[in-house]
Amino acid sequence: MVSTRILAYTAGLIAIIVWRSGRVAKNNILTKHNFPTGYYAEGNYTNDCTTLKAPELKYCEDATFWNLLDNSGKFVDRGLLISCDAGRKSWNTVMGPLRDPEPLGSLWLYEPGRKLQAGQSPPLERFKRLELKGYPAGHDFHPLGVEIYPSYAGAPSNLYVINHARERTVIEHFILSPSAPTIATHVRTITSPYFVSPNSLALTSPDSFYVTNDHLLTRRLPYVGNVLAVIESIFALPLGFVSHVTLNPYSTDTSDAPAPIIKEHTFAVLFVPFPNGIAISPSGTHLALSSTTLGHVSIYARDKATHAIAGLIQSIPVPFTPDNLHYTHDGESLIVSGHPNFPALTAVAANKTGAAAPSWVLSIAMQGIELKEDFDVKAPVSARGLVPAVHSREVTTLFQSDGSAAGFSSSATGLKDPITGNLYVSGLYAEDGLLVCRPSS
Ligand SMILES: *[C@@H]1O[C@H](CO)[C@@H](O)[C@H](O)[C@H]1NC(C)=O
Ligand SMILES: *[C@@H]1O[C@H](CO)[C@@H](O)[C@H](O)[C@H]1NC(C)=O
Repeated sequence: MVSTRILAYTAGLIAIIVWRSGRVAKNNILTKHNFPTGYYAEGNYTNDCTTLKAPELKYCEDATFWNLLDNSGKFVDRGLLISCDAGRKSWNTVMGPLRDPEPLGSLWLYEPGRKLQAGQSPPLERFKRLELKGYPAGHDFHPLGVEIYPSYAGAPSNLYVINHARERTVIEHFILSPSAPTIATHVRTITSPYFVSPNSLALTSPDSFYVTNDHLLTRRLPYVGNVLAVIESIFALPLGFVSHVTLNPYSTDTSDAPAPIIKEHTFAVLFVPFPNGIAISPSGTHLALSSTTLGHVSIYARDKATHAIAGLIQSIPVPFTPDNLHYTHDGESLIVSGHPNFPALTAVAANKTGAAAPSWVLSIAMQGIELKEDFDVKAPVSARGLVPAVHSREVTTLFQSDGSAAGFSSSATGLKDPITGNLYVSGLYAEDGLLVCRPSS
């Protein structure tokens, strides 16, 4: 009797999902794609990809470049910052569970340096866990989205990290200096009634940023949170939003009454189902936003001066539930990472034995090109056939994996280094926290 009822409920839920977003249900819930252990478009996965291994360097949600520029804004060097939480299987406010918030997550800096030779692993000494200096005692640290402003002529950079702390999600403000690049000095903890469920950041100045709020109904709500958060996801309810937040710059001057940390809050985009990754184009004129439950990436026009969003230009369907995204350095493509099998990701999050969450990273051409019907022809599982071709936005797979132990699991962020051509991928539940793939010459 009970099992019939469960079956009926399940059928009902599936019917609702199909009705709300049939493509996502078909591609990412009902179909198990036949991914290889690893596919790397610009080389050979076995020979050219490697993972960075260190204790605690696992379950990394986000990664971002830290650009070091000279006085005139010319490129000097680049580091890679990574946010990880080895305790994610005990504390995940987006997917559950909410069991043990005690162990602190971590931030890492990788200095890529020069180009690696074939078969060479990234040297571990170029790869450091950041000390969180002055971090308040007893304050949880569960980092998700991380962004850092470029450093000009060696000046310190403002670093912002979304922190899924025990009571509520906050944003931590740190300072990181190129002269001591492994010490992140804690400045302040930013809270706001508008931080319902922050997920990802895009900086608009050293003291302002966009932040996505992935859900309105969160798992944190007492008793009903688990159910409501899942309902919001399943129905792809458009309750997520993007804020733009301007801070009063930090001052050590205590002579006057302190100014509030947040100077101004505006809603940049409202009514988006599960907004997740967010990125500003290098020219500053566009904003890219992923909607996880609708399986697409939306490109908006933005006003560089006011940070206002002028309007939606286009939504580009992707063959997975998209997570974080980054424009390439030249703005020619957008690199989108995500989860092609949501039930598998949920099983990994619940620590089910034998579960493996596959990975998919692709690039979307931002420049107008001729519409091709025959796109993504080399990938083992091609995006063609799973998503409709969208005029002038060619989609190309960069990386795929079945998420098995020899592969790479649950891709959350993909980044491409413009100098070395290396592809970096972080994995939400990847045991080895970061994948580095070097294009074979
Ligand atoms: C990658 O390299 C391995 C070992 O050299 C080889 O066995 C395999 O066939 C190569 N894969 C592809 C897709 O070329
Ligand atoms: C996950 O399962 C493994 C065994 O498969 C166990 O060692 C580990 O403690 C579990 N982790 C959590 C957070 O429950």
